[in-house]
Amino acid sequence: MSSAWQSTLDGLREKGLERVLRTVDGPVGARIDTPQGPKLLFCSNDYLGLASHPSLRESLCRAAEQYGVGAAASRLVSGNYRLHDELERRIATFVDSEDAVLFPSGYQANVGGLSALVERGDVIFSDELVHASIVDGCRLSRASVNIFRHKDMQHLEALLDQDRSAGRRIIVTDAIFSMDGDLAPLTKIHRLADKFGALIYLDEAHSLGIMGPNGRGLAAAAGLSDRIAIRVGTLGKAFGVSGAFIACDRVAARVLRSRARSLMYTTAAPPPLAAAAITAVDLVCAADKARVKLKSNISSLRVRAKKLGLELAESHTAIQPVIIGRAEHAVEISNRLWDEGIFVQAIRPPTVPPGTSRLRITLSAAHEKGDIDLLLTTLFGFLKDDLDKKEPRS
Ligand SMILES: Cc1ncc(COP(=O)(O)O)c(C=O)c1O
Repeated sequence: MSSAWQSTLDGLREKGLERVLRTVDGPVGARIDTPQGPKLLFCSNDYLGLASHPSLRESLCRAAEQYGVGAAASRLVSGNYRLHDELERRIATFVDSEDAVLFPSGYQANVGGLSALVERGDVIFSDELVHASIVDGCRLSRASVNIFRHKDMQHLEALLDQDRSAGRRIIVTDAIFSMDGDLAPLTKIHRLADKFGALIYLDEAHSLGIMGPNGRGLAAAAGLSDRIAIRVGTLGKAFGVSGAFIACDRVAARVLRSRARSLMYTTAAPPPLAAAAITAVDLVCAADKARVKLKSNISSLRVRAKKLGLELAESHTAIQPVIIGRAEHAVEISNRLWDEGIFVQAIRPPTVPPGTSRLRITLSAAHEKGDIDLLLTTLFGFLKDDLDKKEPRS
């Protein structure tokens, strides 16, 4: 029997947009096991190399012995464990906020956070390249949404200036943009927020653990922690675990616990994950050596790429995209790398704008210089083949 979704799938395939999941089968590190053999891993968000850390495993296993696995209910019913409360307190102390509210994932934090804290009559000013979860949260909020060109402060200022509404004004941005790796101009955003009486909603998914003193994030690095009304952090990236939080004032936290549907109407994160995340806060705090190594990996990738003539995007973070263009082409190069034992995922629309499909290389403190060399020489070989094909020598 033919499926009612055959034409939808055909449409995706024709545009090179069907996703096929790659399977992995081992702990995350510089390498990962797969059914097709071990691969050098250059697309996880395990920036500090903590995902397989022995202390995280131990905390998780110990808590599983004590509590079992599932929380078995929403946090608003019977699923709110002492470990969840403790993790919220630890995070609030870590990021220096009055309170923090846990969510099972960053996607849920943004969707639930924006729809609970922003409402009809409010106005959102959002960078055009924010994460999909923020886009969805903005839609659900029912506020009016103004999109400003990526990091264009003049555009943001003009939009703020034009706005005559009586509601809250909220400027929304990623701290490090997830697909481009560049930084939000937070100090300038803060100046505009001050001038126009706006609040800032900052998603620190890729900066938390990496930037700022002890990895406290971009707001802390800029000395603006107490000026950002809402900070979102994820625990599945540099923290090596899973889940997310919103750090905010006590009143906003109470609103979230009473109104964020992605917190109210979902089962709480398993208590052993909360135990592992508590340990991860300590590990992240003490991870200066890993942060230095990551920084050195980033600069050695950029220096080596430049020597080879390989064009990278203007990013100085662990996210180093190589823009390819056509979706099919990005997938083809990703597949060729996979066959050579290197895993870099191709990122295509709608995750990135049409015509900017890319290989999103992510670096970790777990990588060694030799890993980076192998990635670059292999990738450069493939891209050079393409150039040679396009420009046949006469
Ligand atoms: C900027 C940003 N926010 C939120 C998320 C979602 O986080 P999670 O993977 O915990 O759902 C991501 C994930 O990739 C992200 O890049």
